[in-house]
Amino acid sequence: MKSPHNVVVFGATSAIAQAVARRLVEHGCNLFAVGRNPEKLNAVVDDLRVRRGPNQLVAGRHADLDRVEEHAALFDASVHALGGVDTVIIAHGSLPDQLECEVSIPLMLAQIHTNAISAVALAAAAAQRLQAGGGGQIVAIGSVAGDRGRQSNYVYGAAKGMLALFLQGLRNSLDARGVHVLTVKPGFVDTPMTAGFTKKGFLWATPDRVASDIVRAMFRRKDVIYTPGFWRWIMLCINHVPERIFKRMRL
Ligand SMILES: NC(=O)c1ccc[n+]([C@@H]2O[C@H](COP(=O)([O-])OP(=O)(O)OC[C@H]3O[C@@H](n4cnc5c(N)ncnc54)[C@H](OP(=O)(O)O)[C@@H]3O)[C@@H](O)[C@H]2O)c1
Repeated sequence: MKSPHNVVVFGATSAIAQAVARRLVEHGCNLFAVGRNPEKLNAVVDDLRVRRGPNQLVAGRHADLDRVEEHAALFDASVHALGGVDTVIIAHGSLPDQLECEVSIPLMLAQIHTNAISAVALAAAAAQRLQAGGGGQIVAIGSVAGDRGRQSNYVYGAAKGMLALFLQGLRNSLDARGVHVLTVKPGFVDTPMTAGFTKKGFLWATPDRVASDIVRAMFRRKDVIYTPGFWRWIMLCINHVPERIFKRMRL
């Protein structure tokens, strides 16, 4: 299977996605960045253009990825800009306030739409296009929160859990068809998404650390990664706590 070459990044203004995009451009990839905020997206594209080599393409398009009906046009634009796409990265997401979601079911459903529905719609569209183009790679950022429902963030967790299960099936289905699927499960990462948290201690990682793990996993065709890697063992322990004890742990 080929290394990433023509890459489209959905949610390119995310701190983690920016760090991944910088690394991929430094590896010589062409890149098409899709982000919601036009000013932030322009800054990301400008930064990547400064880093690219003489023959590398970097382009972008702003879009609200909640508008699933616009996804096809975004794929078309990325193919038009790069001349073809072999790698699709799905990075956008939002971390809702759990208590607000419990009060407002429309808010809860909007969060599930952003974190699960729009992401699986992009993954499914990427699967169709990459198969038709002869293969490639789909990378999507889930979360350790998707491994077990917890009272403090089960709306976000359920959406990321759906994404992970969808990607698992997609990986299974595409294995013989030349399309590789990588599921990324970060732990706590110091980005705008976690601006309201107290970020102290060894559990917190930088976007650059996480991006380094993601890009290495892309080149090595890993299926699922926890990043940093120690989260695999933390989640193994958390997943083995019996439910009757877990529900009293107030996590
Ligand atoms: N930070 C963590 O601790 C952590 C842990 C586990 C997983 N993750 C996951 O990592 C991914 C990247 O997040 P991050 O930590 O890098 O946070 P971030 O910098 O806050 O990035 C989130 C990005 O998602 C974009 N976005 C949200 N809804 C969108 C929509 N409807 N259409 C287009 N873009 C949309 C935001 O765009 P705007 O700038 O326009 O708002 C923002 O660029 C997310 O999937 C997140 O769930 C993060």
